[in-house]
Amino acid sequence: MSADVTKTAAWARLSNLHDSFTPDLRGAFAADPDRAATFTRTAGELHVDLSKNFLDADVLAALVALADEVGLAERRAAMYSGERINVTENRSVLHTALRRPRTDSLVVEGRDVVPDVHEVLDKVYAFANQVRSGEWKGVTGKPITTVINIGIGGSDLGPVMVYEALKPYKQRGLECRFISNIDPSDVFEKTVDADPETTLFIVASKTFTTLETLTNAKMARWWLLDALAKAGAVDGSDAQNADAIAKHFVAVSTALDKVAEFGIDPANAFGFWDWVGGRYSVDSAVGTAVAVAIGPDNFADFLAGMNAMDVHFAETPWGQNVPALMGLLNVWYVNFFGAESHAVLPYAQYLHRFAAYLQQLTMESNGKGVKADGTPVTTATGEIFWGEPGTNGQHAFYQLIHQGTRLIPADFIAVATPAHGIQCDGADVHELFLANFLAQTKALAFGKTADEVRAEGVAEALVPAKVFEGNRPTTSIMAPALTPSVVGQLIALYEHITFVEGVVWGIDSFDQWGVELGKVLAKQIGPAITGDAAALAAQDASTQGLIAYYQANRAR
Ligand code: F6P
Repeated sequence: MSADVTKTAAWARLSNLHDSFTPDLRGAFAADPDRAATFTRTAGELHVDLSKNFLDADVLAALVALADEVGLAERRAAMYSGERINVTENRSVLHTALRRPRTDSLVVEGRDVVPDVHEVLDKVYAFANQVRSGEWKGVTGKPITTVINIGIGGSDLGPVMVYEALKPYKQRGLECRFISNIDPSDVFEKTVDADPETTLFIVASKTFTTLETLTNAKMARWWLLDALAKAGAVDGSDAQNADAIAKHFVAVSTALDKVAEFGIDPANAFGFWDWVGGRYSVDSAVGTAVAVAIGPDNFADFLAGMNAMDVHFAETPWGQNVPALMGLLNVWYVNFFGAESHAVLPYAQYLHRFAAYLQQLTMESNGKGVKADGTPVTTATGEIFWGEPGTNGQHAFYQLIHQGTRLIPADFIAVATPAHGIQCDGADVHELFLANFLAQTKALAFGKTADEVRAEGVAEALVPAKVFEGNRPTTSIMAPALTPSVVGQLIALYEHITFVEGVVWGIDSFDQWGVELGKVLAKQIGPAITGDAAALAAQDASTQGLIAYYQANRAR
């Protein structure tokens, strides 16, 4: 049975600290002029201000003690060295190997994985260069202008998020689109105005068994061949269709045999390994669409950024270790203050898919009710991650963060230099944006007292509605600019935060059995929808009623 974290001395210490802890960020800043400096850390190029958290020297020491008592250093070493820490799938967890420099070596179970990683990267880069230069041609001899990635979960969220984050780095005239949902509207909208002669599909699936991805890939194949035939570009013969597929479809998978079964030449496939979890895979060949869009040099910088954060996490003492401290603070909020969710609020429009990406990373990893040994967890686990870019969120849900009844710790992210330094009416618009970034964490921390409201002449009856309690904890993360390296650093930061929380809770953060039951039931329910009476009879009354509604209302 895994050790129970709630029985550790550090847990008892945190519990005592919590019992006597009265959050008072105003008081803490007033009492200690050095507080901001005391609790600001650096990781890679990230400047991380933790000072507006429920943190003092005692709490920090207890959190560090907790890291030691749960054996965080040993677990980290086990992950980095390729021990099979994903116990329920009996796999190593080696996403950190994907961003090791070529000169490194990492022998796992008798094999150095670093040359394997770089062999695939070289193949991805050669392909990216061929597409970018126009050397890779479609079946009618035209260069590719639209790359459509077909994948879901980790084979979609990472590539979309990074593509969007790094749009200023993409090659002009080359566009990426992403199909993920099995809702046929997704394929329709992404292909309706695409030119089949200049469109290339990347089918990305670790397992190459995922229903959504295989169905979408089949629809895309049909769309391509049909559109090419209508344009007179192919005659519909097997030979010409095969040629068209070879020139317009490539694949990314760990299952190259299944890629071949689908009809994609394994020569046009990029492999990876079962030790890369789907939600940790954007830095593998799963990032091929991104590598095509931003080019090999930028993709290499992205990987280098991730590696810089890996090195920071591996080598920095806990008290200075940003992913460790942020993960431990999350535990502090979830398990001692009852926080149920955590907001991530990037003040960078290009990070508009970051929260969606983090949802899979954090919640598929840590939404677990049993520990790695199968015994029930003894603490709450897996808080809900969510967010939207500022300032949009300010005009939507910040009301609840500022004045609602729930404690919602939040990470605010901003960069010093914007991609577009646009001036308007004599103002640097990025500075207007940054003023909001700074104002929000200030308002959340320090609030506004009833006396301050009254001093503004507010009628007494309205005073309560205008009071801000403050003491809403935030972390501010700043970077020089949203470069490929910084995006890599941010991703690796949150990967390691997720790992730290999972280690404290004693869970296997790298399996995802919770997504399986729904997949099995969907297969059973499919025939019930299409008219199989026995399959329908086997369903519960609610499902039967919903199917009856569908059948009565489906227009064809
Ligand atoms: O169903 C969840 C999941 O297994 C994710 O973990 C994964 O990222 C996604 O499906 C897609 O899987 P694949 O890359 O094998 O198609």
